[in-house]
Amino acid sequence: RSFATPTFDTSNPRIPPYLKLVKNYEKVKEVLGKGSALTLAEKILYSHLDNAEESLLTNTNGGRDIRGAANLKLKPDRVAMQDASAQMALLQFMTCNLPTTAIPASIHCDHLIVGENGAKSDLESGIKMNQEVFDFLESASKKYGIEFWPPGAGIIHQSVLENYAAPGLMMLGTDSHTPNAGGLSTIAIGVGGADAVEALVGAPWELKAPRVLGVKLINKLSGWASPKDIILNLAGQLTVRGGTGYIIEYFGPGVETLSCTGMATVCNMGAEVGATTSIFPFSPAHVRYLESTHRHDVAAEAKRFSDIVSLRADEGAQYDEVITIDLATLEPHINGPFTPDLSTPLSQFKKTVQEENWPEKLSAGLIGSCTNSSYEDMTRVEGMVREALDAGLKPASHFYITPGSDQIRETLRRDGPLDTFKEAGGTVLSNACGPCIGQWKRQDGVEKGTSNAILTSFNRNFRGRNDGNLDTMNFLASPEIVTAMTFAGTTTFNPMTDSLQTASGKEFRFTPPSGKEIPLQPFEIAREEFRAVASAPDSSVDVAISPSSSRLALLEPFEPFPASELTGLRVLVKVTGKCTTDTISAAGPWLKYKGHLPNISANTLNTATTAETGEVNVAYDMDGSQHTIPDLAQRWRDAARPWLVVAEHNYGEGSAREHAALQPRYLGARVVLTKSFARIHETNLKKQGVVPLTFANEADYDRINACDEVETVGLLDMLRNGGQGEVSLRVKNFRTGEEVLIPTRHAVSRDQAQFILAGSALNLLSQKS
Ligand code: F3S
Repeated sequence: RSFATPTFDTSNPRIPPYLKLVKNYEKVKEVLGKGSALTLAEKILYSHLDNAEESLLTNTNGGRDIRGAANLKLKPDRVAMQDASAQMALLQFMTCNLPTTAIPASIHCDHLIVGENGAKSDLESGIKMNQEVFDFLESASKKYGIEFWPPGAGIIHQSVLENYAAPGLMMLGTDSHTPNAGGLSTIAIGVGGADAVEALVGAPWELKAPRVLGVKLINKLSGWASPKDIILNLAGQLTVRGGTGYIIEYFGPGVETLSCTGMATVCNMGAEVGATTSIFPFSPAHVRYLESTHRHDVAAEAKRFSDIVSLRADEGAQYDEVITIDLATLEPHINGPFTPDLSTPLSQFKKTVQEENWPEKLSAGLIGSCTNSSYEDMTRVEGMVREALDAGLKPASHFYITPGSDQIRETLRRDGPLDTFKEAGGTVLSNACGPCIGQWKRQDGVEKGTSNAILTSFNRNFRGRNDGNLDTMNFLASPEIVTAMTFAGTTTFNPMTDSLQTASGKEFRFTPPSGKEIPLQPFEIAREEFRAVASAPDSSVDVAISPSSSRLALLEPFEPFPASELTGLRVLVKVTGKCTTDTISAAGPWLKYKGHLPNISANTLNTATTAETGEVNVAYDMDGSQHTIPDLAQRWRDAARPWLVVAEHNYGEGSAREHAALQPRYLGARVVLTKSFARIHETNLKKQGVVPLTFANEADYDRINACDEVETVGLLDMLRNGGQGEVSLRVKNFRTGEEVLIPTRHAVSRDQAQFILAGSALNLLSQKS
């Protein structure tokens, strides 16, 4: 096939650069051989290579073993940032002294608004409380020509899906649920701010070529099963680590039975199994969604692009693994508490609740968020609520609704669901993250320390994630199951088999939900104050940061790697069990310090469990004195004593939060030694100049303890040799003085070695720019 004269609209920034992508794709086919069969993920990813030849042929056995081996240097088309992570990304971007971003970018103010009494008052108080940060983000947006979505406009992933995601596009987002856009055939990857800055300055962004896990969908969902159940089920199969190093690509006849927003829900939660991203092939549902969201032009160009490159896997393309899910027999699932991969089919849930002694009373049901606030979700729920109201029932638990954007909110207001939720006594929160990210000031009398159960249609359920209460058991389900249980007020209710009693003593049984994929008329336009503000870069704008601010602080560069091995490191803490990015850098009330590294560092590892004693947030100095973990870290920083953390599996699981790397670095961490890492966090550590190492023998975890003295062996050579070479740690037992040599593994690439030597990726970038 010849690509000699394709013509595409290159004047509309909402349309991906299809012409460039076609040319790159042609180059990729040339490098790999015309007969090569690629998965969809590979097609889009490789079409974004900076230099296809170099990336695909270096260390890959002549292009035969790319996956898991090649270091892809990619040029993404766009970057999206949420307000919490954008602060640090912009502070880093500012140190590069550039007049504008090299590619289009957007900022979405969603994480900082607390959910309390309802949209209007929450938004007012949220803006008041965070004015300084919003002013900073808005002024930086104006200066550098970034699109600015004000507070209340919507949650980043919903706004991206409605406005920027497009088949064949590749984007980075400073949030782990960025893969949501994969529901619209976009390669969308969650990264830390330092990675975003690389893309923003126009430098190639490096990614180890992912393996591709194919998920074949057959048949069609029916009854109570929803797209959310696909991923709740898959999370149970794969566990929180099962997707690490993979892109999950869906295929099979079941794909065309799903709505675009249903596919987005599935991709959104791919983050929960650690996948690099998730993607669906281009489908007629994408065209319907693009057109309904006023993007006929994008739909038309995407069809033309797909005619050339075919936005689906090539015939004969190989997946590294295949999992088949039969949608026709898929049951609703409920996942949790405290981990998204503890998956229980609805039919087994009552028994499990009783066996595990989980609370039977449901204190609250929360629906919506970036994961599940689509028109389809909300109309399916509305049908259920209407039916229950007509039977004289009201929710027995508190009922909260979070719309994902003002566009969806206004559409739901126009078409009725919003009024129905209010009639049922539901609290409609602002178009923001709120309870999904610990920004939930509960008004339902459930005090901290009270054991209780909540059910949400969100995506993540680490302990304390929603209300900061470690005793809140948080379960994940589809919005339909959340709503049914909220009416019942109990976690043991199964709407497929159980009835409720109406006030008049009648039996009421929900009929299986049904809704509309998209509205009959196109989506309503967001209210004026909630639309994006786009402006050309203006160098005369001063970026607003007060020197006395407790919320924002300009960054100081980290010191470079010494011209020697690291010596005199001490183990600050040996962590046992799960250690997520929430554990390393808590959210909730701490979100307000995202732009102030010294202040936010006071939360570092403050919910980590110490292996030796089982205590939470307790560490002991060498003189035996007891401290919180961040206090001891600060004490060691003041004493200029570098340190390391030792931990178990999947360290840094969860979000793309780069603070989980920046804070330890700021406080003096040079190494993190674990049994394994979550991908984004491992990269983030390297970007900030911290060396992530894993035990070559997991049993060596037992041979190193808090306060032990550590010296690296081979690290300097490995870094100077561009990531080649073995690294060990010489560990001197703090109590006995006995020395052991612990062999380790690392995944440091040539570029990453340069970051670490320079002190951080940013140090290197600012040297170059
Ligand atoms: Fe916000 Fe929760 Fe989504 S924090 S971006 S609503 S995962």
